[in-house]
Amino acid sequence: MKNKVVVIGCGNVGMSYAYALLNQSTKVGELVLIDVNKDRVDGEAMDLNHCLAFSPSYMNIKSGDYIDCKGAKIVVIAAGANQKPGETRMDLINKNSAIFKDIISNVVSNGFDGIFLVATNPLDVMTYLTWKYSGFLKEKVIGSGTCLDTARLRYLVGNRLNIAPSEVHAYVIGEHGDSELVAWSNAMVGLQNVSDYLTEFDEDDIKDEVKNAAYEIINRKGATYYGIGMSLAYITNSILDDQNNILTVSCYNEKEKIFIGMPAIVNNSGVSKVLNLDLNNSEKIAFNNSISVIKEAISKIN
Ligand SMILES: NC(=O)c1ccc[n+]([C@@H]2O[C@H](COP(=O)([O-])OP(=O)(O)OC[C@H]3O[C@@H](n4cnc5c(N)ncnc54)[C@H](O)[C@@H]3O)[C@@H](O)[C@H]2O)c1
Repeated sequence: MKNKVVVIGCGNVGMSYAYALLNQSTKVGELVLIDVNKDRVDGEAMDLNHCLAFSPSYMNIKSGDYIDCKGAKIVVIAAGANQKPGETRMDLINKNSAIFKDIISNVVSNGFDGIFLVATNPLDVMTYLTWKYSGFLKEKVIGSGTCLDTARLRYLVGNRLNIAPSEVHAYVIGEHGDSELVAWSNAMVGLQNVSDYLTEFDEDDIKDEVKNAAYEIINRKGATYYGIGMSLAYITNSILDDQNNILTVSCYNEKEKIFIGMPAIVNNSGVSKVLNLDLNNSEKIAFNNSISVIKEAISKIN
Protein backbone atom coordinates (compact mmCIF):
# COMPACT_ATOMS: atom_id res chain seq x y z
CA MET A 1 0.00 0.00 0.00
CA LYS A 2 1.18 3.52 -0.80
CA ASN A 3 2.32 5.74 2.05
CA LYS A 4 -0.45 8.30 2.21
CA VAL A 5 0.15 11.71 3.77
CA VAL A 6 -2.66 14.21 4.32
CA VAL A 7 -1.90 17.93 4.72
CA ILE A 8 -4.57 20.00 6.49
CA GLY A 9 -4.05 23.73 5.96
CA CYS A 10 -2.53 24.45 2.59
CA GLY A 11 -1.29 28.00 2.97
CA ASN A 12 2.37 29.09 3.05
CA VAL A 13 3.52 26.34 5.42
CA GLY A 14 1.42 23.46 4.11
CA MET A 15 2.41 24.12 0.50
CA SER A 16 6.09 24.73 1.27
CA TYR A 17 6.05 21.32 2.92
CA ALA A 18 4.35 19.71 -0.08
CA TYR A 19 6.79 21.35 -2.47
CA ALA A 20 9.77 20.33 -0.33
CA LEU A 21 8.56 16.70 -0.47
CA LEU A 22 8.30 16.84 -4.26
CA ASN A 23 11.88 18.04 -4.54
CA GLN A 24 13.26 15.12 -2.55
CA SER A 25 13.51 11.41 -2.76
CA THR A 26 10.68 10.37 -0.44
CA LYS A 27 8.55 7.32 0.29
CA VAL A 28 5.38 9.44 0.26
CA GLY A 29 3.24 7.73 -2.39
CA GLU A 30 0.05 9.72 -2.06
CA LEU A 31 -0.38 13.33 -0.99
CA VAL A 32 -3.84 14.66 -0.14
CA LEU A 33 -4.43 18.38 0.39
CA ILE A 34 -7.27 19.67 2.59
CA ASP A 35 -8.16 23.30 3.27
CA VAL A 36 -11.29 25.32 3.95
CA ASN A 37 -10.44 27.21 0.77
CA LYS A 38 -11.39 24.43 -1.66
CA ASP A 39 -10.67 26.41 -4.84
CA ARG A 40 -7.20 27.26 -3.72
CA VAL A 41 -6.40 23.70 -2.78
CA ASP A 42 -7.70 22.38 -6.14
CA GLY A 43 -5.34 24.83 -7.83
CA GLU A 44 -2.44 23.80 -5.59
CA ALA A 45 -2.96 20.12 -6.45
CA MET A 46 -2.94 20.93 -10.18
CA ASP A 47 0.20 23.04 -9.85
CA LEU A 48 2.05 20.33 -7.88
CA ASN A 49 1.03 17.60 -10.32
CA HIS A 50 2.72 19.61 -13.06
CA CYS A 51 6.04 19.19 -11.20
CA LEU A 52 5.98 15.40 -11.31
CA ALA A 53 7.78 15.03 -14.63
CA PHE A 54 10.84 16.64 -13.02
CA SER A 55 10.52 15.27 -9.48
CA PRO A 56 12.86 12.60 -8.02
CA SER A 57 9.77 10.95 -6.46
CA TYR A 58 6.46 9.90 -7.93
CA MET A 59 3.30 10.39 -5.91
CA ASN A 60 -0.44 10.71 -6.48
CA ILE A 61 -1.46 14.24 -5.53
CA LYS A 62 -5.03 15.42 -5.12
CA SER A 63 -7.19 17.84 -3.18
CA GLY A 64 -9.40 15.87 -0.85
CA ASP A 65 -11.54 15.72 2.22
CA TYR A 66 -11.45 14.27 5.72
CA ILE A 67 -12.57 10.87 4.45
CA ASP A 68 -9.08 10.60 2.91
CA CYS A 69 -7.52 10.49 6.39
CA LYS A 70 -8.50 6.82 6.65
CA GLY A 71 -5.43 4.72 5.92
CA ALA A 72 -3.04 7.70 5.97
CA LYS A 73 0.36 7.17 7.61
CA ILE A 74 0.73 10.82 8.61
CA VAL A 75 -1.66 13.75 8.96
CA VAL A 76 0.23 17.04 8.92
CA ILE A 77 -1.61 20.04 10.35
CA ALA A 78 -0.58 23.53 9.26
CA ALA A 79 -4.06 25.08 9.39
CA GLY A 80 -4.87 28.30 11.15
CA ALA A 81 -3.74 31.85 11.66
CA ASN A 82 -0.09 32.84 11.37
CA GLN A 83 1.76 35.66 13.15
CA LYS A 84 1.29 39.19 11.89
CA PRO A 85 4.12 41.71 12.44
CA GLY A 86 4.38 42.38 16.19
CA GLU A 87 2.37 39.29 17.19
CA THR A 88 3.89 36.47 19.27
CA ARG A 89 3.11 32.83 18.58
CA MET A 90 1.14 32.70 21.84
CA ASP A 91 -1.14 35.49 20.55
CA LEU A 92 -2.59 32.93 18.10
CA ILE A 93 -3.85 30.61 20.83
CA ASN A 94 -7.55 31.46 20.82
CA LYS A 95 -7.99 31.45 17.06
CA ASN A 96 -6.09 28.23 16.52
CA SER A 97 -7.29 26.18 19.48
CA ALA A 98 -10.90 26.69 18.32
CA ILE A 99 -10.23 25.34 14.83
CA PHE A 100 -8.16 22.40 16.13
CA LYS A 101 -11.12 20.91 18.01
CA ASP A 102 -13.00 20.63 14.72
CA ILE A 103 -10.06 19.43 12.67
CA ILE A 104 -8.96 16.68 15.05
CA SER A 105 -12.50 15.42 15.50
CA ASN A 106 -12.96 15.25 11.71
CA VAL A 107 -9.66 13.39 11.25
CA VAL A 108 -10.28 10.84 14.00
CA SER A 109 -13.96 10.21 13.18
CA ASN A 110 -12.88 9.27 9.66
CA GLY A 111 -10.78 6.38 10.92
CA PHE A 112 -7.25 7.84 10.95
CA ASP A 113 -4.86 5.81 13.10
CA GLY A 114 -1.44 6.99 11.94
CA ILE A 115 0.87 9.72 13.24
CA PHE A 116 -0.10 13.37 13.72
CA LEU A 117 2.55 15.93 12.78
CA VAL A 118 1.66 19.45 13.94
CA ALA A 119 3.10 22.75 12.67
CA THR A 120 0.47 25.29 13.73
CA ASN A 121 1.41 27.84 16.42
CA PRO A 122 1.57 28.15 19.33
CA LEU A 123 3.23 24.87 18.50
CA ASP A 124 3.60 23.10 21.82
CA VAL A 125 0.06 24.02 22.87
CA MET A 126 -1.45 22.89 19.56
CA THR A 127 0.48 19.60 19.79
CA TYR A 128 -0.86 19.06 23.30
CA LEU A 129 -4.41 19.80 22.10
CA THR A 130 -3.99 17.35 19.22
CA TRP A 131 -3.05 14.65 21.73
CA LYS A 132 -5.93 15.58 24.07
CA TYR A 133 -8.60 15.85 21.38
CA SER A 134 -7.50 12.72 19.51
CA GLY A 135 -6.99 10.40 22.47
CA PHE A 136 -3.98 8.97 20.58
CA LEU A 137 -0.94 7.43 22.24
CA LYS A 138 1.62 10.13 23.05
CA GLU A 139 4.18 8.53 20.72
CA LYS A 140 1.84 9.09 17.77
CA VAL A 141 1.59 12.84 18.22
CA ILE A 142 4.59 14.90 17.15
CA GLY A 143 5.01 18.66 16.94
CA SER A 144 7.65 20.22 14.73
CA GLY A 145 8.87 21.71 18.02
CA THR A 146 12.26 23.36 17.93
CA CYS A 147 13.40 21.46 14.80
CA LEU A 148 13.43 24.65 12.77
CA ASP A 149 15.08 26.65 15.57
CA THR A 150 17.74 23.94 15.81
CA ALA A 151 18.30 24.15 12.04
CA ARG A 152 18.67 27.93 12.36
CA LEU A 153 21.16 27.44 15.20
CA ARG A 154 23.25 24.94 13.23
CA TYR A 155 23.31 27.27 10.24
CA LEU A 156 24.36 30.30 12.32
CA VAL A 157 27.11 28.46 14.22
CA GLY A 158 28.37 26.86 11.02
CA ASN A 159 28.28 30.15 9.18
CA ARG A 160 30.26 31.93 11.88
CA LEU A 161 32.92 29.20 11.99
CA ASN A 162 32.91 28.41 8.28
CA ILE A 163 31.97 24.81 9.05
CA ALA A 164 29.10 22.90 7.44
CA PRO A 165 25.86 23.09 9.51
CA SER A 166 25.70 19.28 9.34
CA GLU A 167 28.89 19.18 11.52
CA VAL A 168 27.27 21.30 14.23
CA HIS A 169 25.58 19.12 16.85
CA ALA A 170 23.58 21.44 19.04
CA TYR A 171 19.97 21.74 20.12
CA VAL A 172 17.41 24.44 20.72
CA ILE A 173 14.96 23.04 23.27
CA GLY A 174 11.86 24.14 25.18
CA GLU A 175 8.92 26.09 23.81
CA HIS A 176 8.93 26.84 20.08
CA GLY A 177 8.61 30.50 21.01
CA ASP A 178 10.08 33.30 23.05
CA SER A 179 11.12 31.14 26.04
CA GLU A 180 13.15 28.61 24.00
CA LEU A 181 16.81 28.06 24.92
CA VAL A 182 20.03 26.77 23.41
CA ALA A 183 21.56 23.86 25.34
CA TRP A 184 25.10 25.22 24.85
CA SER A 185 26.53 22.90 27.51
CA ASN A 186 25.72 19.98 25.18
CA ALA A 187 26.79 21.63 21.92
CA MET A 188 29.56 20.16 19.79
CA VAL A 189 31.30 21.04 16.54
CA GLY A 190 32.60 17.78 15.17
CA LEU A 191 33.93 16.11 18.32
CA GLN A 192 34.86 19.33 20.11
CA ASN A 193 32.90 21.40 22.54
CA VAL A 194 31.40 24.54 21.01
CA SER A 195 33.03 26.56 23.82
CA ASP A 196 36.41 25.76 22.19
CA TYR A 197 35.25 27.86 19.24
CA LEU A 198 32.78 30.43 20.55
CA THR A 199 32.93 32.98 23.36
CA GLU A 200 29.98 33.53 25.68
CA PHE A 201 29.33 36.75 23.79
CA ASP A 202 29.11 34.83 20.49
CA GLU A 203 26.75 32.33 22.08
CA ASP A 204 24.40 35.04 23.36
CA ASP A 205 24.45 36.76 20.02
CA ILE A 206 23.60 33.55 18.13
CA LYS A 207 20.91 32.59 20.66
CA ASP A 208 19.20 35.98 20.15
CA GLU A 209 19.43 35.65 16.40
CA VAL A 210 17.79 32.22 16.52
CA LYS A 211 15.06 33.39 18.88
CA ASN A 212 14.26 36.49 16.82
CA ALA A 213 14.57 34.84 13.39
CA ALA A 214 10.81 34.47 12.82
CA TYR A 215 10.14 38.11 13.81
CA GLU A 216 12.91 39.35 11.51
CA ILE A 217 11.60 37.31 8.57
CA ILE A 218 7.95 38.27 9.20
CA ASN A 219 8.91 41.98 9.32
CA ARG A 220 10.56 41.62 5.92
CA LYS A 221 8.36 39.19 3.97
CA GLY A 222 5.20 38.69 6.06
CA ALA A 223 5.60 35.00 6.96
CA THR A 224 8.12 32.18 7.34
CA TYR A 225 7.59 28.94 5.46
CA TYR A 226 10.54 27.39 3.57
CA GLY A 227 12.42 26.46 6.74
CA ILE A 228 9.40 24.82 8.37
CA GLY A 229 8.49 23.15 5.06
CA MET A 230 11.90 21.47 4.94
CA SER A 231 11.73 20.58 8.65
CA LEU A 232 8.36 18.87 8.18
CA ALA A 233 9.63 17.01 5.11
CA TYR A 234 12.67 15.83 7.10
CA ILE A 235 10.47 14.58 9.96
CA THR A 236 8.16 12.86 7.45
CA ASN A 237 11.06 11.02 5.83
CA SER A 238 12.43 10.05 9.27
CA ILE A 239 9.07 8.43 10.01
CA LEU A 240 8.48 6.73 6.65
CA ASP A 241 12.10 5.55 6.25
CA ASP A 242 12.24 4.40 9.90
CA GLN A 243 15.45 6.39 10.23
CA ASN A 244 15.80 6.76 14.02
CA ASN A 245 16.95 10.36 13.60
CA ILE A 246 17.42 12.46 16.72
CA LEU A 247 15.24 15.54 16.22
CA THR A 248 14.16 18.31 18.56
CA VAL A 249 10.45 17.70 18.10
CA SER A 250 7.69 18.67 20.48
CA CYS A 251 7.06 15.48 22.42
CA TYR A 252 5.37 14.38 25.62
CA ASN A 253 7.19 15.18 28.85
CA GLU A 254 6.15 12.49 31.34
CA LYS A 255 6.98 14.56 34.42
CA GLU A 256 5.28 17.79 33.35
CA LYS A 257 2.48 16.23 31.28
CA ILE A 258 2.85 18.71 28.45
CA PHE A 259 4.46 18.65 24.99
CA ILE A 260 7.74 20.53 24.69
CA GLY A 261 10.77 20.59 22.36
CA MET A 262 13.34 17.96 23.35
CA PRO A 263 15.70 15.77 21.36
CA ALA A 264 13.89 12.53 20.58
CA ILE A 265 14.38 9.48 18.40
CA VAL A 266 11.89 9.52 15.53
CA ASN A 267 11.05 6.45 13.49
CA ASN A 268 8.17 4.50 11.96
CA SER A 269 6.43 4.28 15.33
CA GLY A 270 6.58 8.05 15.89
CA VAL A 271 8.58 9.27 18.89
CA SER A 272 10.29 6.11 20.10
CA LYS A 273 12.36 7.70 22.88
CA VAL A 274 12.80 11.15 24.43
CA LEU A 275 16.43 11.88 25.31
CA ASN A 276 17.32 13.65 28.52
CA LEU A 277 20.04 16.29 28.41
CA ASP A 278 22.41 16.99 31.26
CA LEU A 279 21.74 20.75 31.47
CA ASN A 280 23.73 23.24 33.52
CA ASN A 281 21.99 25.37 36.18
CA SER A 282 21.07 28.35 34.05
CA GLU A 283 19.78 26.05 31.31
CA LYS A 284 17.67 24.17 33.85
CA ILE A 285 16.13 27.46 35.00
CA ALA A 286 15.42 28.49 31.41
CA PHE A 287 13.89 25.09 30.58
CA ASN A 288 11.67 25.25 33.68
CA ASN A 289 10.56 28.72 32.66
CA SER A 290 9.62 27.35 29.23
CA ILE A 291 7.59 24.60 30.92
CA SER A 292 5.72 27.26 32.96
CA VAL A 293 5.00 29.33 29.85
CA ILE A 294 3.45 26.34 28.05
CA LYS A 295 1.49 25.22 31.14
CA GLU A 296 0.10 28.70 31.71
CA ALA A 297 -1.01 28.95 28.08
CA ILE A 298 -2.75 25.57 28.27
CA SER A 299 -4.51 26.55 31.50
CA LYS A 300 -6.12 29.55 29.77
CA ILE A 301 -7.82 27.50 27.06
CA ASN A 302 -11.54 26.94 27.62
N1 LIG B 1 6.16 25.27 13.60
C1 LIG B 1 6.87 26.21 13.00
O1 LIG B 1 8.11 26.24 13.10
C2 LIG B 1 6.13 27.22 12.15
C3 LIG B 1 6.81 28.05 11.24
C4 LIG B 1 6.06 28.95 10.48
C5 LIG B 1 4.68 29.04 10.65
N2 LIG B 1 4.06 28.22 11.55
C6 LIG B 1 2.61 28.26 11.78
O2 LIG B 1 1.93 27.52 10.78
C7 LIG B 1 0.58 27.97 10.70
C8 LIG B 1 0.22 28.25 9.24
O3 LIG B 1 0.96 29.36 8.78
P1 LIG B 1 0.85 29.84 7.25
O4 LIG B 1 1.86 30.90 7.06
O5 LIG B 1 0.83 28.67 6.35
O6 LIG B 1 -0.61 30.49 7.26
P2 LIG B 1 -1.54 30.69 5.98
O7 LIG B 1 -2.57 31.71 6.37
O8 LIG B 1 -0.73 30.94 4.76
O9 LIG B 1 -2.24 29.26 5.81
C9 LIG B 1 -3.15 28.75 6.73
C10 LIG B 1 -4.12 27.91 5.97
O10 LIG B 1 -5.00 27.26 6.89
C11 LIG B 1 -6.27 27.20 6.28
N3 LIG B 1 -7.29 26.97 7.30
C12 LIG B 1 -7.75 27.82 8.25
N4 LIG B 1 -8.68 27.20 9.00
C13 LIG B 1 -8.79 25.94 8.54
C14 LIG B 1 -9.58 24.82 8.90
N5 LIG B 1 -10.45 24.87 9.90
N6 LIG B 1 -9.43 23.69 8.19
C15 LIG B 1 -8.56 23.60 7.16
N7 LIG B 1 -7.78 24.64 6.77
C16 LIG B 1 -7.90 25.78 7.45
C17 LIG B 1 -6.42 28.55 5.57
O11 LIG B 1 -7.43 28.52 4.56
C18 LIG B 1 -5.01 28.72 5.00
O12 LIG B 1 -4.89 28.18 3.68
C19 LIG B 1 0.51 29.22 11.59
O13 LIG B 1 -0.03 28.90 12.84
C20 LIG B 1 1.97 29.63 11.73
O14 LIG B 1 2.22 30.41 12.88
C21 LIG B 1 4.76 27.32 12.28
